[in-house]
Amino acid sequence: MRRDVGRRSTGDAWEEVAAVAPEFAVLTDGRRGEAFYDSGRETVHQILGDIARRGFSTRGLALDFGCGMGRLTLPLATRFERAIGVDHSPTMLRLARERARLVGCANVTFALSSGDRFPDVASASADFALSLLVFQHMPSDDAVHANIRELQRCLVPGGLAWLQFDTRPSSLAYWLWDRLERRLPSGLGPRTRRAPLRRYRRASPLIREWLVSSGFDVLRQSNPDTELHGYLLRRS
Ligand SMILES: C[S@@+](CC[C@H](N)C(=O)[O-])C[C@H]1O[C@@H](n2cnc3c(N)ncnc32)[C@H](O)[C@@H]1O
Repeated sequence: MRRDVGRRSTGDAWEEVAAVAPEFAVLTDGRRGEAFYDSGRETVHQILGDIARRGFSTRGLALDFGCGMGRLTLPLATRFERAIGVDHSPTMLRLARERARLVGCANVTFALSSGDRFPDVASASADFALSLLVFQHMPSDDAVHANIRELQRCLVPGGLAWLQFDTRPSSLAYWLWDRLERRLPSGLGPRTRRAPLRRYRRASPLIREWLVSSGFDVLRQSNPDTELHGYLLRRS
């Protein structure tokens, strides 16, 4: 199902919010400055710790899809030989590059996505892919599915991915807001309930179907049917 966000493309909507409140666009809980970046280190530490217990080494290239300001990309670069962050907001990418320069992180690059293609990432080049707080904000099912396929293209055969989705069951309130939000003039309603920050729920069987049909084996799931449903995947 394809949906737009009013008259704007989702890329334009992210550009607008990145220009005025980039940290809020990434974490709406108010963390700023060093606390903002510390949160990324903790998250990467947790995710990679879980994966390391399964015997996976952190060699080669890590890809951070929907990297925003590089909150997760920079910690990935300290664990892998190289990291690349991909995002469709040029402003987010500029801020991520500035942060990398500030902290002296030289083994990281950032690349623009078209929204569902990563032209600067070669096929079968990444050993690991991560995505957190990204798929949940995509209004279009087609975009979710296309980006899953694109991640599969970028991974080496046998490469791992850890991807997060919001798979909470839809409540009546969610269903009503879903119908209302697209009819509201832009600017009305709570900011975190409107695109692009709004979170779209998708049922876990649907996500699993897209993952498997895109060429992933599902190795493990964490926090199933919650807003932080994590899928550990292997490219088959
Ligand atoms: C909430 S932020 C999360 C940033 C980062 N993953 C983190 O946790 O720090 C969402 C990011 O995803 C990006 N994004 C959303 N949809 C995208 C798409 N279709 N292609 C590439 N980037 C996308 C936005 O531009 C934004 O930078």
